[in-house]
Amino acid sequence: MWSTRAFIGLSLALDGLPYNMSIDADTRGTGDANVDLMNDTVLVRRYREGEEPALFAVYYSAIHFVASRDYTPDQIEAWAPRDLDSRLWEARIRGINPFVAELDGTVVAYADIQASGYIDHFFVSGAYPRCGFGTMLMTRILKEARCLGLSEVTSDVSRTAQGFYERFGFRVVEHRNPVLRGVTIPNALMRLDLKNG
Ligand SMILES: CC(C)(COP(=O)(O)OP(=O)(O)OC[C@H]1O[C@@H](n2cnc3c(N)ncnc32)[C@H](O)[C@@H]1OP(=O)(O)O)[C@@H](O)C(=O)NCCC(=O)NCCS
Repeated sequence: MWSTRAFIGLSLALDGLPYNMSIDADTRGTGDANVDLMNDTVLVRRYREGEEPALFAVYYSAIHFVASRDYTPDQIEAWAPRDLDSRLWEARIRGINPFVAELDGTVVAYADIQASGYIDHFFVSGAYPRCGFGTMLMTRILKEARCLGLSEVTSDVSRTAQGFYERFGFRVVEHRNPVLRGVTIPNALMRLDLKNG
């Protein structure tokens, strides 16, 4: 097991916005290569092996500090338990091979797109909400989906992220009640039609 304290420490170390970040309309949507946010450099790239703990910190803080607005403490704990098995986590991240957004060398968000068009994970650190990192990653993975010739993109989307996904043209297909570690965590299957969109 990893020390959860290390992950939480990393999340909390990101508290607040130490930068005067302002994302102008032209750079916000590009979602690839290097984007200069005032004087801070954001890079969207593939995750690298060994970064799994950093991605766990993002996952943990996104759920405990952002999604916690829309779910109960029991649901949050079942979704992102402190004692998640590190070997399982590493295997999961290797399996989905996500893109990451890196701010001045620190991973602040990550998201994947599978060959089927399914987005499995989409998380932005709780230290950087509504700073545009989600938009950069979504732009990048939708570009990837088009390059792969996919006709649709789907995801099981949390209550917290549904407004964000709608902004990119996703629509709710059905509301679902999956059970994770014995706790029901409602979400919605959402779909984006790339052929007619
Ligand atoms: C949902 C999430 C990925 C959005 O990432 P983000 O970096 O904060 O998003 P952006 O800054 O790019 O937001 C762009 C726009 O999306 C919309 N948006 C973002 N978060 C939203 C929310 N919680 N509710 C409604 N609209 C939202 C807003 O219109 C926003 O623009 P604005 O800030 O100018 O109003 C992020 O909040 C997150 O990780 N949430 C918790 C974990 C989670 O639920 N992940 C999804 C699992 S399916």
